[in-house]
Amino acid sequence: MKVRFDRVDLHYLRLRAHQKWGRWDSDVISLSVADLDYPPPQEVQQAVERWLREERTPYGPPAGDPELREILARKVRRRNSIPATAEEILIIPGTMFGIFLACFLSLRPGDEAVLTPSPVYGPFWKNVRAMGATPVPHDLSLEPGFAYLKETLASRIGPKTRLLMVCNPHNPTGRVLRRDDLEAVARVALENDLTIFSDELYEDLVMEGEHISMASLGKEVLDRTITVFGFSKAFGIPGYRVAYLVVPPRLRDRAVEAMEHIMVHTDTLAQAAALGALEAGERWLKPLVEHLRDMRDRSLRRLEEMPGVACTPSQATPFLFVDVRSLGVSSEELCRRLLEEGRLVVQPGTHFGPSGEGFIRLNLATSWEVLAEAFHRMERVFHKMR
Ligand SMILES: Cc1ncc(COP(=O)(O)O)c(C=O)c1O
Repeated sequence: MKVRFDRVDLHYLRLRAHQKWGRWDSDVISLSVADLDYPPPQEVQQAVERWLREERTPYGPPAGDPELREILARKVRRRNSIPATAEEILIIPGTMFGIFLACFLSLRPGDEAVLTPSPVYGPFWKNVRAMGATPVPHDLSLEPGFAYLKETLASRIGPKTRLLMVCNPHNPTGRVLRRDDLEAVARVALENDLTIFSDELYEDLVMEGEHISMASLGKEVLDRTITVFGFSKAFGIPGYRVAYLVVPPRLRDRAVEAMEHIMVHTDTLAQAAALGALEAGERWLKPLVEHLRDMRDRSLRRLEEMPGVACTPSQATPFLFVDVRSLGVSSEELCRRLLEEGRLVVQPGTHFGPSGEGFIRLNLATSWEVLAEAFHRMERVFHKMR
């Protein structure tokens, strides 16, 4: 069946997509929270219905369904060149839980975790702080091109650093780290005996460049890296709360024990949804990435027409991280004005850390009709400000 990404159902979204659409008045357009505005692949519903008929209602294994873990181990070996077995796969209730678990297993009060690159997804900061530890940002260049500054990483490491938290592909800039960037991170981790947490949730949404998994860089790196992959973004099923970790053997028992004591295991039907997403695979991903590339290119052309706005093209993710520094107001103030005067919601760059000041993040995972209206509203507000 042909997948359609060029039409979205705003009535349905306002009813069901609470985080992105539901909490705003009905005249508001939202390019905020990283939901996709499209119904998920049909394979998801079919897999959930299959498991429902099989009456999978008792408790399952804490690490997740054995058959699904085997399939995921094959996937990470083939796609990510990570030589993991099903033993090292832990199915978790959402990528967010992976961020929590990495902090929970690696940090004690007083420790430090380096967030690289920064600015970065807000829960990286919040989960480090929740452990009584301190997040230390390692910023990428916020000038055009968003260069990854690998030579400055070592200067962020101190005696209290325990964890390096990598986000690649990167939310919010859509940057894809190169092999030499990843090798620099690995070198710093090995020299300072640090654990690496690698959030690779956006691996399937790459438009330019190649996604390389941190844990594929060799055995020494694999042995100290916790990788999280998920389904929420590429398959549009965040409501199912399912993702998976590749955990090195030395952390595995503690990770499974934490999972068991905190969650028992990931919801069974959410695991069925993950299976369905894997079955959909390229049939779904290929046209989705094509559509996102088209939305990105058209959005860049629209932004170019707006004086005082600069934007580095994203290489992956559905995001654009737009430089609005020349408008002369804070990100928060700009977002407030866009909402009040333009009835448009976008995210202030400061949600991703202090260096995001002067930027806004747009989520382009919708139809061109919605984006065209959003840019029209944005342009009107910017025009009034100048
Ligand atoms: C980098 C990153 N990690 C994790 C998450 C959370 O994903 P999930 O819904 O699977 O918990 C997001 C969501 O936006 C994200 O951008």
